[in-house]
Amino acid sequence: MTATAIHTLQSHLGDQVTVHGWVTHFRSSGKIHFLMVRDGTGVVQCIIRPGQAVLEGPWVTEWDQLGTEMAVSLDGTVHADPRAPGGVEISLTRLRVLSESPDYPIQPKEHGVDFLLDHRHLWIRSPRQAAILRIRSRIIHAIRNFLDDQGFVVTDPPIITPAAAEGTTTLFEIDYFGEPAYLSQSGQLYLEALAMALGRVYSFGPTFRAEKSKTRRHLMEFWMVEPEIAFCEFEENLEWQERLVSHVVQTVLRECQDELKTLNRDVSRLAAVIPPFPRITYDEAVERLNQAGYGIAWGEDLGAPHETALAEMFDRPVFLTHFPKAIKAFYMQPDPERPDRVLAADLLAPEGYGEIVGGSQRIHDLSVLEARMRETGLDPERYQWYLDLRRYGSVPHSGFGMGLERLVAWIAGLEHVRETIPFPRTLNRVWP
Ligand code: 4AD
Ligand code: MG
Repeated sequence: MTATAIHTLQSHLGDQVTVHGWVTHFRSSGKIHFLMVRDGTGVVQCIIRPGQAVLEGPWVTEWDQLGTEMAVSLDGTVHADPRAPGGVEISLTRLRVLSESPDYPIQPKEHGVDFLLDHRHLWIRSPRQAAILRIRSRIIHAIRNFLDDQGFVVTDPPIITPAAAEGTTTLFEIDYFGEPAYLSQSGQLYLEALAMALGRVYSFGPTFRAEKSKTRRHLMEFWMVEPEIAFCEFEENLEWQERLVSHVVQTVLRECQDELKTLNRDVSRLAAVIPPFPRITYDEAVERLNQAGYGIAWGEDLGAPHETALAEMFDRPVFLTHFPKAIKAFYMQPDPERPDRVLAADLLAPEGYGEIVGGSQRIHDLSVLEARMRETGLDPERYQWYLDLRRYGSVPHSGFGMGLERLVAWIAGLEHVRETIPFPRTLNRVWP
Protein backbone atom coordinates (compact mmCIF):
# COMPACT_ATOMS: atom_id res chain seq x y z
CA MET A 1 0.00 0.00 0.00
CA THR A 2 1.37 3.47 -0.78
CA ALA A 3 1.76 5.73 2.22
CA THR A 4 -0.85 8.34 3.15
CA ALA A 5 0.40 11.83 4.06
CA ILE A 6 -0.49 12.71 7.64
CA HIS A 7 -1.97 16.08 6.74
CA THR A 8 -4.60 14.31 4.58
CA LEU A 9 -5.76 11.85 7.26
CA GLN A 10 -8.95 13.87 7.91
CA SER A 11 -10.23 12.67 4.55
CA HIS A 12 -9.50 9.00 5.41
CA LEU A 13 -11.76 8.56 8.46
CA GLY A 14 -12.57 4.85 8.93
CA ASP A 15 -9.93 3.76 6.38
CA GLN A 16 -7.06 1.38 6.85
CA VAL A 17 -3.91 3.40 5.97
CA THR A 18 -0.15 3.06 5.84
CA VAL A 19 2.00 5.93 7.13
CA HIS A 20 5.77 6.35 6.80
CA GLY A 21 7.56 8.64 9.21
CA TRP A 22 9.64 9.16 12.32
CA VAL A 23 8.85 8.69 16.00
CA THR A 24 8.61 11.96 17.91
CA HIS A 25 7.33 10.67 21.24
CA PHE A 26 6.34 7.45 23.00
CA ARG A 27 4.48 7.12 26.26
CA SER A 28 2.78 4.28 28.02
CA SER A 29 -0.19 4.36 30.38
CA GLY A 30 -0.51 0.81 31.65
CA LYS A 31 -2.13 -1.29 28.96
CA ILE A 32 -2.26 1.33 26.22
CA HIS A 33 0.70 3.02 24.53
CA PHE A 34 0.64 6.35 22.74
CA LEU A 35 3.00 6.95 19.86
CA MET A 36 3.44 10.27 18.04
CA VAL A 37 4.70 10.01 14.48
CA ARG A 38 5.62 12.81 12.05
CA ASP A 39 6.13 12.49 8.32
CA GLY A 40 7.06 16.06 7.33
CA THR A 41 3.46 16.99 6.49
CA GLY A 42 2.13 16.68 10.03
CA VAL A 43 2.06 14.73 13.27
CA VAL A 44 -0.39 11.98 14.21
CA GLN A 45 -1.15 10.21 17.46
CA CYS A 46 -1.26 6.41 17.27
CA ILE A 47 -2.96 4.23 19.88
CA ILE A 48 -1.30 0.90 20.53
CA ARG A 49 -3.24 -1.89 22.25
CA PRO A 50 -0.42 -4.43 22.51
CA GLY A 51 -2.59 -7.54 21.95
CA GLN A 52 -3.99 -6.05 18.75
CA ALA A 53 -0.86 -4.64 17.13
CA VAL A 54 2.22 -6.37 15.73
CA LEU A 55 5.69 -4.95 16.31
CA GLU A 56 8.25 -5.85 13.65
CA GLY A 57 12.00 -5.76 14.45
CA PRO A 58 14.95 -6.00 13.94
CA TRP A 59 15.76 -2.82 15.83
CA VAL A 60 13.39 -3.23 18.77
CA THR A 61 11.59 -6.12 20.41
CA GLU A 62 9.43 -4.25 22.98
CA TRP A 63 7.12 -1.29 22.45
CA ASP A 64 8.85 0.78 25.14
CA GLN A 65 12.12 0.59 23.20
CA LEU A 66 10.67 2.95 20.59
CA GLY A 67 12.82 6.07 20.63
CA THR A 68 12.85 9.56 19.18
CA GLU A 69 13.58 9.77 15.43
CA MET A 70 13.48 6.05 14.71
CA ALA A 71 12.08 5.66 11.19
CA VAL A 72 8.88 3.64 11.05
CA SER A 73 6.23 2.30 8.70
CA LEU A 74 2.84 1.68 10.24
CA ASP A 75 -0.61 0.39 9.38
CA GLY A 76 -3.79 1.26 11.23
CA THR A 77 -7.31 2.59 11.08
CA VAL A 78 -8.10 6.31 11.15
CA HIS A 79 -10.58 7.66 13.72
CA ALA A 80 -11.80 11.14 14.47
CA ASP A 81 -10.62 12.42 17.84
CA PRO A 82 -11.07 16.11 18.55
CA ARG A 83 -8.53 15.96 21.42
CA ALA A 84 -5.70 14.64 19.23
CA PRO A 85 -3.48 16.96 17.19
CA GLY A 86 -4.98 17.31 13.71
CA GLY A 87 -8.30 15.94 15.03
CA VAL A 88 -7.54 12.30 14.12
CA GLU A 89 -5.95 9.27 15.67
CA ILE A 90 -4.71 5.96 14.26
CA SER A 91 -5.47 2.61 15.92
CA LEU A 92 -2.31 0.73 15.15
CA THR A 93 -2.37 -2.79 13.72
CA ARG A 94 1.29 -3.11 12.68
CA LEU A 95 4.47 -1.14 13.20
CA ARG A 96 7.74 -1.84 11.43
CA VAL A 97 10.88 -0.10 12.68
CA LEU A 98 13.00 0.75 9.63
CA SER A 99 16.07 2.15 11.34
CA GLU A 100 17.43 2.94 14.76
CA SER A 101 18.16 6.30 16.39
CA PRO A 102 20.11 5.76 19.61
CA ASP A 103 20.54 8.75 21.95
CA TYR A 104 19.02 11.34 19.63
CA PRO A 105 20.90 14.52 20.56
CA ILE A 106 17.95 16.93 20.57
CA GLN A 107 15.68 16.30 23.51
CA PRO A 108 12.49 18.07 24.59
CA LYS A 109 14.35 20.42 26.94
CA GLU A 110 16.11 23.76 26.65
CA HIS A 111 19.25 23.59 24.51
CA GLY A 112 21.66 26.48 24.00
CA VAL A 113 21.70 28.25 20.62
CA ASP A 114 25.21 27.05 19.79
CA PHE A 115 24.28 23.44 20.50
CA LEU A 116 21.23 23.76 18.29
CA LEU A 117 23.17 25.42 15.46
CA ASP A 118 25.87 22.73 15.68
CA HIS A 119 23.02 20.24 15.21
CA ARG A 120 21.17 22.29 12.63
CA HIS A 121 20.93 19.24 10.34
CA LEU A 122 18.76 17.60 13.05
CA TRP A 123 17.23 20.73 14.60
CA ILE A 124 15.26 21.36 11.37
CA ARG A 125 13.17 18.27 12.25
CA SER A 126 11.60 20.04 15.24
CA PRO A 127 8.03 21.35 14.79
CA ARG A 128 9.01 25.00 15.18
CA GLN A 129 11.83 24.85 12.66
CA ALA A 130 9.77 22.85 10.20
CA ALA A 131 6.95 25.41 10.49
CA ILE A 132 9.39 28.23 9.72
CA LEU A 133 10.75 26.44 6.65
CA ARG A 134 7.23 25.81 5.42
CA ILE A 135 6.38 29.49 5.80
CA ARG A 136 9.58 30.35 3.92
CA SER A 137 8.48 28.08 1.11
CA ARG A 138 5.01 29.68 0.93
CA ILE A 139 6.57 33.14 0.91
CA ILE A 140 8.87 32.26 -2.00
CA HIS A 141 5.87 30.87 -3.85
CA ALA A 142 3.76 33.98 -3.15
CA ILE A 143 6.52 36.32 -4.33
CA ARG A 144 6.96 34.41 -7.57
CA ASN A 145 3.21 34.18 -8.17
CA PHE A 146 2.74 37.90 -7.73
CA LEU A 147 5.57 38.90 -10.05
CA ASP A 148 4.82 36.23 -12.67
CA ASP A 149 1.16 37.33 -12.77
CA GLN A 150 2.26 40.94 -13.32
CA GLY A 151 4.28 40.01 -16.39
CA PHE A 152 7.74 40.03 -14.84
CA VAL A 153 10.28 37.76 -16.50
CA VAL A 154 12.35 35.74 -14.05
CA THR A 155 16.00 35.87 -14.95
CA ASP A 156 19.33 34.97 -13.40
CA PRO A 157 22.21 37.42 -13.04
CA PRO A 158 25.66 35.90 -12.45
CA ILE A 159 26.86 34.98 -8.98
CA ILE A 160 30.56 35.34 -9.83
CA THR A 161 31.12 39.00 -10.67
CA PRO A 162 34.07 41.22 -11.63
CA ALA A 163 33.13 44.30 -9.55
CA ALA A 164 31.13 45.57 -6.57
CA ALA A 165 27.42 46.39 -6.79
CA GLU A 166 26.85 47.48 -3.16
CA GLY A 167 30.05 48.98 -1.80
CA THR A 168 33.56 47.56 -1.77
CA THR A 169 33.78 46.82 1.96
CA THR A 170 31.55 43.72 2.05
CA LEU A 171 32.94 41.78 -0.94
CA PHE A 172 33.76 38.09 -0.71
CA GLU A 173 36.76 37.70 -2.98
CA ILE A 174 37.50 34.51 -4.88
CA ASP A 175 40.46 33.49 -7.02
CA TYR A 176 39.19 33.29 -10.60
CA PHE A 177 42.13 31.58 -12.32
CA GLY A 178 44.57 34.14 -11.01
CA GLU A 179 42.23 37.16 -11.32
CA PRO A 180 40.22 38.48 -8.36
CA ALA A 181 36.47 38.04 -8.69
CA TYR A 182 33.65 38.46 -6.17
CA LEU A 183 30.51 36.68 -5.03
CA SER A 184 27.47 38.76 -5.98
CA GLN A 185 26.19 41.25 -3.39
CA SER A 186 23.20 42.03 -5.62
CA GLY A 187 22.20 41.23 -9.19
CA GLN A 188 20.98 44.77 -9.73
CA LEU A 189 23.48 46.04 -12.29
CA TYR A 190 22.80 43.03 -14.52
CA LEU A 191 19.07 43.31 -13.93
CA GLU A 192 19.19 46.87 -15.25
CA ALA A 193 20.61 45.46 -18.50
CA LEU A 194 17.95 42.75 -18.54
CA ALA A 195 15.14 45.27 -17.92
CA MET A 196 16.24 47.14 -21.05
CA ALA A 197 15.90 43.84 -22.92
CA LEU A 198 12.71 42.46 -21.36
CA GLY A 199 10.86 45.37 -19.68
CA ARG A 200 9.96 43.96 -16.26
CA VAL A 201 12.35 41.42 -14.80
CA TYR A 202 13.29 39.90 -11.48
CA SER A 203 15.86 37.59 -10.03
CA PHE A 204 15.56 35.46 -6.93
CA GLY A 205 18.82 34.05 -5.76
CA PRO A 206 21.55 33.93 -3.17
CA THR A 207 23.63 37.03 -2.47
CA PHE A 208 26.74 37.38 -0.35
CA ARG A 209 28.05 40.07 1.96
CA ALA A 210 31.10 39.92 4.15
CA GLU A 211 29.34 41.95 6.84
CA LYS A 212 31.36 42.42 9.98
CA SER A 213 28.06 42.76 11.82
CA LYS A 214 26.87 40.28 14.38
CA THR A 215 23.23 41.29 14.66
CA ARG A 216 19.91 39.51 14.52
CA ARG A 217 19.34 40.88 11.00
CA HIS A 218 22.58 40.01 9.21
CA LEU A 219 23.64 36.90 7.34
CA MET A 220 26.70 36.49 5.12
CA GLU A 221 24.67 34.53 2.59
CA PHE A 222 21.04 35.50 2.09
CA TRP A 223 18.38 35.31 -0.61
CA MET A 224 17.10 38.38 -2.32
CA VAL A 225 14.28 38.99 -4.77
CA GLU A 226 15.18 41.87 -7.06
CA PRO A 227 12.60 43.30 -9.45
CA GLU A 228 13.80 45.87 -12.01
CA ILE A 229 11.39 47.87 -14.15
CA ALA A 230 12.02 49.92 -17.29
CA PHE A 231 10.14 53.22 -17.70
CA CYS A 232 9.39 53.28 -13.98
CA GLU A 233 9.98 56.26 -11.73
CA PHE A 234 10.33 56.61 -7.99
CA GLU A 235 6.69 56.64 -6.82
CA GLU A 236 5.63 53.73 -9.03
CA ASN A 237 8.53 51.72 -7.60
CA LEU A 238 7.10 52.20 -4.09
CA GLU A 239 3.69 51.04 -5.28
CA TRP A 240 5.17 47.79 -6.61
CA GLN A 241 6.81 47.22 -3.24
CA GLU A 242 3.73 47.77 -1.12
CA ARG A 243 1.59 45.62 -3.38
CA LEU A 244 4.13 42.79 -3.30
CA VAL A 245 4.66 42.90 0.47
CA SER A 246 0.95 42.99 1.29
CA HIS A 247 0.25 40.17 -1.18
CA VAL A 248 2.85 38.01 0.55
CA VAL A 249 1.63 38.80 4.08
CA GLN A 250 -2.04 38.21 3.24
CA THR A 251 -1.19 34.92 1.48
CA VAL A 252 0.71 33.65 4.52
CA LEU A 253 -2.13 34.67 6.85
CA ARG A 254 -4.53 32.68 4.69
CA GLU A 255 -2.40 29.63 3.91
CA CYS A 256 -0.11 29.13 6.92
CA GLN A 257 -2.54 29.27 9.85
CA ASP A 258 -1.24 26.05 11.41
CA GLU A 259 2.39 27.10 11.11
CA LEU A 260 1.70 30.57 12.56
CA LYS A 261 -0.08 28.86 15.46
CA THR A 262 2.89 26.54 16.04
CA LEU A 263 5.06 29.65 16.28
CA ASN A 264 2.57 31.48 18.57
CA ARG A 265 2.66 34.39 16.12
CA ASP A 266 0.40 37.29 17.11
CA VAL A 267 -1.22 37.77 13.70
CA SER A 268 -3.27 40.85 14.58
CA ARG A 269 -0.49 43.21 13.47
CA LEU A 270 -0.03 41.40 10.18
CA ALA A 271 -3.67 41.84 9.22
CA ALA A 272 -3.10 45.62 8.95
CA VAL A 273 -0.46 45.20 6.23
CA ILE A 274 -2.53 46.64 3.38
CA PRO A 275 -1.48 49.43 0.95
CA PRO A 276 -0.91 52.28 0.94
CA PHE A 277 2.04 52.22 3.36
CA PRO A 278 2.96 55.56 4.96
CA ARG A 279 5.93 57.45 3.47
CA ILE A 280 8.19 59.77 5.41
CA THR A 281 11.27 61.53 4.13
CA TYR A 282 14.66 61.20 5.76
CA ASP A 283 14.29 64.85 6.84
CA GLU A 284 11.01 64.11 8.61
CA ALA A 285 12.52 60.99 10.16
CA VAL A 286 15.42 62.97 11.63
CA GLU A 287 12.98 65.53 12.99
CA ARG A 288 10.75 62.87 14.57
CA LEU A 289 13.73 61.05 16.06
CA ASN A 290 15.15 64.24 17.49
CA GLN A 291 11.76 65.05 19.04
CA ALA A 292 11.99 61.61 20.65
CA GLY A 293 15.41 62.56 22.06
CA TYR A 294 17.81 60.74 19.73
CA GLY A 295 20.06 63.69 18.80
CA ILE A 296 20.82 62.94 15.14
CA ALA A 297 22.58 65.37 12.80
CA TRP A 298 21.27 65.65 9.22
CA GLY A 299 23.38 63.41 7.00
CA GLU A 300 24.00 60.67 9.54
CA ASP A 301 23.01 57.14 8.63
CA LEU A 302 20.24 55.63 10.74
CA GLY A 303 20.91 52.50 12.78
CA ALA A 304 18.75 49.65 14.01
CA PRO A 305 17.44 51.52 17.12
CA HIS A 306 16.39 54.47 14.93
CA GLU A 307 14.62 52.19 12.46
CA THR A 308 12.80 50.47 15.29
CA ALA A 309 11.74 53.77 16.84
CA LEU A 310 10.42 55.06 13.51
CA ALA A 311 8.58 51.83 12.69
CA GLU A 312 6.88 51.95 16.11
CA MET A 313 5.19 55.21 15.06
CA PHE A 314 3.10 53.37 12.42
CA ASP A 315 0.72 50.40 12.31
CA ARG A 316 2.13 48.98 9.06
CA PRO A 317 5.44 49.02 7.17
CA VAL A 318 6.72 52.53 6.48
CA PHE A 319 8.81 53.88 3.58
CA LEU A 320 11.73 56.03 4.54
CA THR A 321 12.52 58.14 1.45
CA HIS A 322 14.90 60.77 0.00
CA PHE A 323 18.12 59.93 1.83
CA PRO A 324 21.19 62.16 1.72
CA LYS A 325 23.15 61.00 -1.29
CA ALA A 326 26.38 60.64 0.69
CA ILE A 327 25.04 57.64 2.65
CA LYS A 328 23.57 55.79 -0.34
CA ALA A 329 24.78 53.83 -3.39
CA PHE A 330 26.39 55.44 -6.46
CA TYR A 331 23.64 54.45 -8.92
CA MET A 332 20.76 56.30 -7.22
CA GLN A 333 19.04 59.15 -9.07
CA PRO A 334 19.55 62.56 -7.43
CA ASP A 335 16.30 64.34 -6.51
CA PRO A 336 15.88 67.03 -9.22
CA GLU A 337 14.52 69.44 -6.59
CA ARG A 338 17.23 68.76 -4.01
CA PRO A 339 20.41 67.27 -5.56
CA ASP A 340 21.86 66.63 -2.08
CA ARG A 341 19.44 63.73 -1.71
CA VAL A 342 18.49 60.70 -3.79
CA LEU A 343 15.27 59.07 -4.99
CA ALA A 344 15.75 56.03 -2.80
CA ALA A 345 13.58 54.37 -0.18
CA ASP A 346 13.98 51.74 2.50
CA LEU A 347 10.89 49.88 3.63
CA LEU A 348 10.93 49.36 7.39
CA ALA A 349 8.96 46.47 8.85
CA PRO A 350 6.97 46.92 12.07
CA GLU A 351 7.86 45.38 15.44
CA GLY A 352 11.58 46.13 15.26
CA TYR A 353 12.41 44.02 12.20
CA GLY A 354 14.08 46.91 10.41
CA GLU A 355 14.76 47.36 6.71
CA ILE A 356 13.25 44.59 4.61
CA VAL A 357 13.44 46.33 1.21
CA GLY A 358 15.93 48.76 -0.30
CA GLY A 359 15.16 50.36 -3.64
CA SER A 360 15.63 53.40 -5.82
CA GLN A 361 15.23 55.08 -9.15
CA ARG A 362 18.50 54.60 -11.04
CA ILE A 363 20.58 57.31 -12.69
CA HIS A 364 19.91 57.10 -16.44
CA ASP A 365 22.13 60.00 -17.55
CA LEU A 366 25.65 58.95 -18.60
CA SER A 367 27.60 61.95 -17.36
CA VAL A 368 25.76 62.09 -14.02
CA LEU A 369 26.50 58.40 -13.45
CA GLU A 370 30.19 58.71 -14.37
CA ALA A 371 30.55 61.66 -12.03
CA ARG A 372 28.90 59.74 -9.16
CA MET A 373 31.21 56.78 -9.74
CA ARG A 374 34.30 58.93 -9.49
CA GLU A 375 32.92 60.67 -6.38
CA THR A 376 32.41 57.33 -4.66
CA GLY A 377 35.83 55.97 -5.64
CA LEU A 378 34.70 53.50 -8.32
CA ASP A 379 36.70 53.16 -11.55
CA PRO A 380 34.31 53.75 -14.52
CA GLU A 381 36.62 51.60 -16.67
CA ARG A 382 35.46 48.51 -14.78
CA TYR A 383 31.81 49.37 -15.44
CA GLN A 384 31.91 50.16 -19.16
CA TRP A 385 29.25 47.60 -19.99
CA TYR A 386 26.98 49.16 -17.33
CA LEU A 387 27.63 52.63 -18.73
CA ASP A 388 26.63 51.33 -22.20
CA LEU A 389 23.08 51.05 -20.83
CA ARG A 390 23.19 54.89 -20.59
CA ARG A 391 24.66 55.22 -24.10
CA TYR A 392 22.09 53.16 -26.00
CA GLY A 393 18.43 53.94 -25.45
CA SER A 394 18.66 54.95 -21.79
CA VAL A 395 15.32 55.42 -19.99
CA PRO A 396 14.21 56.13 -16.42
CA HIS A 397 14.06 52.86 -14.53
CA SER A 398 13.74 51.67 -10.96
CA GLY A 399 13.95 48.56 -8.88
CA PHE A 400 14.37 47.17 -5.43
CA GLY A 401 15.77 44.28 -3.43
CA MET A 402 13.80 42.46 -0.76
CA GLY A 403 15.72 40.28 1.67
CA LEU A 404 13.90 36.96 2.05
CA GLU A 405 15.25 36.10 5.50
CA ARG A 406 14.27 39.42 7.06
CA LEU A 407 10.84 39.11 5.49
CA VAL A 408 10.41 35.59 6.90
CA ALA A 409 11.70 36.65 10.34
CA TRP A 410 9.13 39.44 10.49
CA ILE A 411 6.15 37.48 9.19
CA ALA A 412 6.94 34.45 11.37
CA GLY A 413 7.73 36.70 14.37
CA LEU A 414 11.25 35.35 15.04
CA GLU A 415 13.98 36.72 17.26
CA HIS A 416 16.80 36.18 14.74
CA VAL A 417 17.23 35.65 10.98
CA ARG A 418 19.38 32.55 11.59
CA GLU A 419 16.22 30.46 12.02
CA THR A 420 14.76 31.52 8.67
CA ILE A 421 17.26 29.76 6.40
CA PRO A 422 18.08 26.04 6.45
CA PHE A 423 21.82 26.40 7.10
CA PRO A 424 22.68 29.96 8.21
CA ARG A 425 26.03 31.56 7.41
CA THR A 426 26.84 34.05 10.14
CA LEU A 427 29.95 35.98 11.18
CA ASN A 428 31.39 33.02 13.07
CA ARG A 429 29.70 30.02 11.51
CA VAL A 430 30.02 28.16 8.18
CA TRP A 431 29.15 24.79 9.66
CA PRO A 432 27.32 22.46 9.21
O1 4AD B 1 19.46 47.58 0.65
P1 4AD B 1 20.28 46.59 -0.10
O2 4AD B 1 21.74 46.59 0.14
O3 4AD B 1 19.95 46.85 -1.64
C1 4AD B 1 20.55 46.29 -2.71
O4 4AD B 1 21.35 45.38 -2.69
C2 4AD B 1 20.01 46.79 -4.01
N1 4AD B 1 21.02 46.61 -5.05
C3 4AD B 1 18.75 46.02 -4.34
C4 4AD B 1 18.12 46.48 -5.60
O5 4AD B 1 17.70 47.61 -5.68
N2 4AD B 1 18.00 45.61 -6.58
O6 4AD B 1 19.73 45.12 0.19
C5 4AD B 1 18.38 44.80 -0.08
C6 4AD B 1 17.77 44.01 1.05
C7 4AD B 1 17.76 44.72 2.40
O7 4AD B 1 16.67 45.60 2.50
C8 4AD B 1 17.65 43.55 3.36
O8 4AD B 1 16.32 43.09 3.44
C9 4AD B 1 18.47 42.49 2.66
O9 4AD B 1 18.54 42.83 1.30
N3 4AD B 1 19.82 42.40 3.22
C10 4AD B 1 20.22 41.45 4.08
N4 4AD B 1 19.58 40.42 4.65
C11 4AD B 1 20.27 39.61 5.48
N5 4AD B 1 21.56 39.77 5.76
C12 4AD B 1 22.27 40.79 5.22
N6 4AD B 1 23.57 40.92 5.48
C13 4AD B 1 21.59 41.69 4.33
N7 4AD B 1 21.97 42.78 3.62
C14 4AD B 1 20.88 43.18 2.95
MG1 MG C 1 19.70 48.92 2.14
